Amino acid sequence: MTSFTEKHKTIEKNVTLLGALALVTVAIGGIVEIAPLFWIDNTIEKVHGMRPYTPLEQAGRDIYVREGCYVCHSQMIRPFRDEVERYGHYSLAAESMYDHPFQWGSKRTGPDLARVGAKYSDSWHVQHLTNPQSVVPESVMPKYGFLAENALKVPDIAANLTALSRVGVPYTDADIKNAAADLNAQADPEADAGDLAKRYPKAQIRDYDGDPSRVTEMDALVAYLQVLGTMVDVNDASAQEELATEKGR
Ligand code: HEC
Repeated sequence: MTSFTEKHKTIEKNVTLLGALALVTVAIGGIVEIAPLFWIDNTIEKVHGMRPYTPLEQAGRDIYVREGCYVCHSQMIRPFRDEVERYGHYSLAAESMYDHPFQWGSKRTGPDLARVGAKYSDSWHVQHLTNPQSVVPESVMPKYGFLAENALKVPDIAANLTALSRVGVPYTDADIKNAAADLNAQADPEADAGDLAKRYPKAQIRDYDGDPSRVTEMDALVAYLQVLGTMVDVNDASAQEELATEKGR
């Protein structure tokens, strides 16, 4: 009887056969990993509290991208002890599910911003963005004071929300219809915000830049920074439970 190793020599000596069998073996591994993705609906575990950005937050996000804040800041806390101790609970996949484009990144000249929301006051942000060195003397962050002088101009915020809804962000028809009004109302304490807070739970309606008379790019950017990482209460029992049951499925 020829031993297994003897039989295996046939394969080793025939390069075509070896190539063909190697291909089959690698293909099995590939199929096992890739095929399930065609049958599962979603690769992201949904968590309680996630909602699309309000028009003002979204406009702030566009300014964040325009100004290249991502060049120095990431928005993804990795599940390592040093990161969790410094920045808070590690980021959940669901927390960036409505981000187009996402802002994860691996380059941190400045700190991660995934949970910067509610960490500082609005006026701290305005002061820091206007002159970072006045708050952190050794900071290398550039000054963005001009944002407070620029009136917020978004040519067609409804079109922006429509585009986002086409790639899967669940904006409703009411959200899109009211987008332009929502954009201004969130930063203007005098305006009638309508059902804004109902459509966007936990939306913070207030003047952000210290000048209630007009809506500036600073309002939008600070509104965006203040919502980062605050939608999902990661320590809330129901969010944890939801995560656990999703995992056990
Ligand atoms: C050249 C790199 C660089 C760029 C570009 C930059 N930052 Fe920073 N940022 C830093 C550094 C360094 C710090 C830490 C020192 C400090 O607080 O100023 C920082 C700190 C911050 C903080 C405080 C974070 C915390 O947890 O203390 C916020 C908020 C922030 N940046 C927002 C922004 C925004 C918004 C933009 C774009 C408009 C931006 N940064 C652009 C380098 C940068």
